[in-house]
Amino acid sequence: MGRFFNGITFVFAVAYISTASLGLAGHNSATKGATKAAALKNPVASTPASIAAGQASFQKYCRFCHGADAKGDGPQAPKDTHPPNLTDDKWDHGSTDAEIFTSIKDGIGPKFDMKGFNSKLTPQEMWSIVNYLHSLSSATR
Ligand code: HEC
Repeated sequence: MGRFFNGITFVFAVAYISTASLGLAGHNSATKGATKAAALKNPVASTPASIAAGQASFQKYCRFCHGADAKGDGPQAPKDTHPPNLTDDKWDHGSTDAEIFTSIKDGIGPKFDMKGFNSKLTPQEMWSIVNYLHSLSSATR
């Protein structure tokens, strides 16, 4: 008898929880399926100063692979890696601020031909690079 009632309670609990989460998804459809990357928001305004700072960091840390003008395949890119053009509208790893930030911060797996810059650059510096790249790229943010 006790078992039977526990079963019923369980079914009701499950039904309740799934209804609750469905309701939640309905109200938060904007965040539904959003990745962690997409949840990040660029806190650095895209001012001329930020773009200039981003350009300076780019020349220092990214140019030898992506090229001085960010058009890809820089002169010192390791053999058989093909750093992409960052000024066109083709972004294999996403073109939103958050996605570009994540590519820079964490690097790009699974091979990590590009390693992450989390230990070399501050978030502020990485967001300024994002602003710089978006000032060059025709891609939508
Ligand atoms: C050692 C060479 C190297 C360096 C240094 C490097 N990258 Fe990369 N980067 C690559 C390669 C190779 C890829 C492509 C990786 C892949 O798709 O597997 C890439 C991909 C990217 C992407 C993703 C592009 C897309 O199509 O989605 C971004 C953004 C990027 N790099 C930005 C930067 C920035 C900004 C810096 C400097 C802070 C930097 N990279 C430094 C080699 C490099």
